[in-house]
Amino acid sequence: MIIAVDGPLAAGKGTISKALAEFYGLPHMDTGKLYRGVAYRLLSTGLSPQDAETAAKVARSLSMDGIEDADLRTAQVGAAASVVAANQAVRQALFDLQRNFALQAGGAVLDGRDIGTVVCPEADVKLYVSASPEERARRRQTELEALGEVISFEAMLAQTLERDARDSGRADAPLRPAEDSHLLDTTGLSIEAAVDKARLIVEQVRLAKS
Ligand code: DC
Repeated sequence: MIIAVDGPLAAGKGTISKALAEFYGLPHMDTGKLYRGVAYRLLSTGLSPQDAETAAKVARSLSMDGIEDADLRTAQVGAAASVVAANQAVRQALFDLQRNFALQAGGAVLDGRDIGTVVCPEADVKLYVSASPEERARRRQTELEALGEVISFEAMLAQTLERDARDSGRADAPLRPAEDSHLLDTTGLSIEAAVDKARLIVEQVRLAKS
């Protein structure tokens, strides 16, 4: 079974995908990490995420070895990831990695922005996870605080809206719900409640298909 989980920044898709992967015993790929990995490699060697040719070169030879999760979660890397993600050559270079992961025997859970629309249009279950921009900004602010980055709520909300606009507005594989996706709004939901809802959707789809 392939489960595609898409949605904007801090909507809860990572938590939900990990829980689904564990529940169904499937491998999980956070595809945002690949874009963040490209951004991190560029920034840590003093290169610009706007340099399209170099970004594509880095994506084609991407190795995540030696990169810690904490390196990838910073606001700077997140913003640069969104810039490299608008680069078509970068997306092309990262496509096979994601596609091969999805096609492994038994299936997989992948989360990102274009899993249900581009990477796995044939996925068995597609979830589109969203939440209000204010709630997503609050969650991201808490996450960054835990990493030692202090940022005001207003600045976080502005960054969230800017990121939404860039991810949804790009020409190649923009963020949008696949037509056959199931919408899950996590605003006001606890992690447990959001995961329960996601599992219920997957079970309903499986039942309908059986
Ligand atoms: O999910 P995230 O915040 O870690 O993703 C970082 C950036 O990568 C995000 O701004 C958009 C991009 N991305 C993408 O374009 N396609 C994906 N499948 C995953 C992430």
